[in-house]
Amino acid sequence: MLERISIPNVMQETSRKFILKAKKIGFVPTMGALHNGHISLVERAKNENDITVVSIFVNPLQFGQDEDFDKYPRVLEKDLEMLESVGTNILFVPQVKHMYPEGFLTTVKVRELSDKLCGAFRKGHFEGVTTVVCKLINIVKPTRIYFGQKDYQQMLIVKQMVNDLNIDVEVVSCRTIRESDGLAMSSRNVYLNHAERKSATILYKTLKHIESLILQDKISCRDVSKIMYKMLSDEPLVKEIQYADIYDVKTLERLDEFKDENLLAIALKIGDTRLIDNLIVERKK
Ligand code: PAJ
Repeated sequence: MLERISIPNVMQETSRKFILKAKKIGFVPTMGALHNGHISLVERAKNENDITVVSIFVNPLQFGQDEDFDKYPRVLEKDLEMLESVGTNILFVPQVKHMYPEGFLTTVKVRELSDKLCGAFRKGHFEGVTTVVCKLINIVKPTRIYFGQKDYQQMLIVKQMVNDLNIDVEVVSCRTIRESDGLAMSSRNVYLNHAERKSATILYKTLKHIESLILQDKISCRDVSKIMYKMLSDEPLVKEIQYADIYDVKTLERLDEFKDENLLAIALKIGDTRLIDNLIVERKK
């Protein structure tokens, strides 16, 4: 049975009891509108722990003023069914007024990493993410917390926060789950109309094309961005390419020379919908 908890103190008390019984808690934080990407994280958490906790909280702190907080999909009944069907133990669904009561003053910011890539286009976004993730960890007290590689920068920033602040949790990174045509699953894909949905495959196509050029030694590192921009901008519905480049997997600095591991990452808009994707390319030594 899926237990639903909405009050932070009650969640904390519940976790405390599990910990006293030496239970390992696996935790998957989400904003709901769940898809198989989220569910893959839940399944992994279930496999590796005694108790699985999922949170659904559309966190206002990580949305900019002109972003989609109000129209972000909220489909709790459907989410509940999906979570129940994979044997989730606890769903934590806090309300904004309980997470950020009047007088709330504290935020957590990971410098540098938070200002690159998506951070350059979404001011304050990652500060909102690290603040809520830090709070959720303190409430749920997990042994392990699960993040998708789909949001690579987010995962890296959370790992940095956990290290820097000595937070006692293991951050587990999970592979990106894709639709059959390669589009990374995302709660925001529902915003795409039929034509936009078709053209959205250009992100993964571009990543895979560049990967094959790299692996065959047919491209120099300095040409990667140029060729990515060319492929992406040839797609008529692509409106705004925010970044498309090759980066260091740890520092997120742009690379001038290939390394053993390289991060290819893209953010762009199709219509009004902002999409991101990435791929780690490993070169053989
Ligand atoms: P949300 O976008 O709901 O994503 C929740 C988790 O699911 C994140 O770790 C994300 O990387 C992962 N995820 C999303 N799509 C995925 C896919 N196609 N394959 C694998 N994993 C995928 O990310 C957030 O929420 C929020 O920022 C949050 C961390 C909950 C803080 O508010």
